[in-house]
Amino acid sequence: MTSTDTQIAAILQRWDGELVITHADQISGSWFVIAVHSTRLGPGGGGTRMRSYPSLAAAIQDACQLAQSMTAKFAAANFPLGGAKAVIALPTGWDDRDRTALLQRFGTLVRRLRGLYVTGPDVGTQAEDMDVIATTGAPYVFGRTPAAGGAGSSAPPTALGVFCAIEALATHLFGSAALGGRRVLVQGAGGVGQELIVRLQHAGAEVLVSEIDPGVTQRLQGTGITLVAPDQVMATPCDIFAPCALGGVLNHVSIAQLRCRGIAGAANNQLATAEDAERLRARGIVYVPDFVANSGGAITVVAVEALGWSPAQAEAKVRAISDTVRQVLQQAERRLAQMPTMEASTVIATAGSREPESQPRSSV
Ligand code: PHE
Repeated sequence: MTSTDTQIAAILQRWDGELVITHADQISGSWFVIAVHSTRLGPGGGGTRMRSYPSLAAAIQDACQLAQSMTAKFAAANFPLGGAKAVIALPTGWDDRDRTALLQRFGTLVRRLRGLYVTGPDVGTQAEDMDVIATTGAPYVFGRTPAAGGAGSSAPPTALGVFCAIEALATHLFGSAALGGRRVLVQGAGGVGQELIVRLQHAGAEVLVSEIDPGVTQRLQGTGITLVAPDQVMATPCDIFAPCALGGVLNHVSIAQLRCRGIAGAANNQLATAEDAERLRARGIVYVPDFVANSGGAITVVAVEALGWSPAQAEAKVRAISDTVRQVLQQAERRLAQMPTMEASTVIATAGSREPESQPRSSV
């Protein structure tokens, strides 16, 4: 075997999911990777991440890890969906003018799976892209625009859920959900990060922001936030750190540098390895597991589009993330004798997975 074969084999052998589908899109030079982690509670649900990767192995690894956290996310929400994720790994020199045709070819693949996998938006895709994917991939597409019959962008409800998680974390740490005067550091002002920043400001928090895109940082100037250089994020003192960029930011190096009391953010797979949960606990930093904090978007689009809930019912479910967070933190601290929060939320997710809340109306 070549070293690439060995790498891919190791990823697949270590992974405890059900199936990985890889498709070489020869027209564009992209790879489509669909990782179905679990269909125990229903079709494998999870967004489509569209970006370039250093290698096919890196794309497969990302899809597999992200799919795993979707299983936990839907189980913790008590929804009748399993976990999956798709990656469209773009070639270098990708020309975005070919986006529509690419997404349609991806939709064709999704449809051919007949509901084994249901997609939605993720990093690099948005509601408008779901409309395009649905032209070939319907009915296996969540998160279309309202004009196309969907629930719209998942960014605002995701940000609401993260905000509720932060309030619950503040209650746990400081005895009050009030964020007035609290320092919250948001890493990444993308779709969700920007919405979260506004909510935090309205709540009176002192908001620090780090963002790598110079266009975005320029737009943030004069909005009352304090910019933090990307290489200073981990060492910047704050009350709560909210990772809202890509995953893997909490690792053995960064955890040693952190100067926060607690962490709750929107990024998926914030922990680089499972051991990092214990590293955080040992440092006395309270970690709200990402799949609980960031579940608001997936909850909303699935509830509205597949379960027939009203937007108000979906919002109430998103706000209830604060109850789940409270439960997780209390269990980790008291009942389960100081287990890392990640483990406590897995216990809750497993308990929740026995009886899905309600069955989906449509075929997805
Ligand atoms: N990006 C979403 C998440 O990680 C994925 C998603 C969105 C899945 C909408 C389904 C519907 O939770």
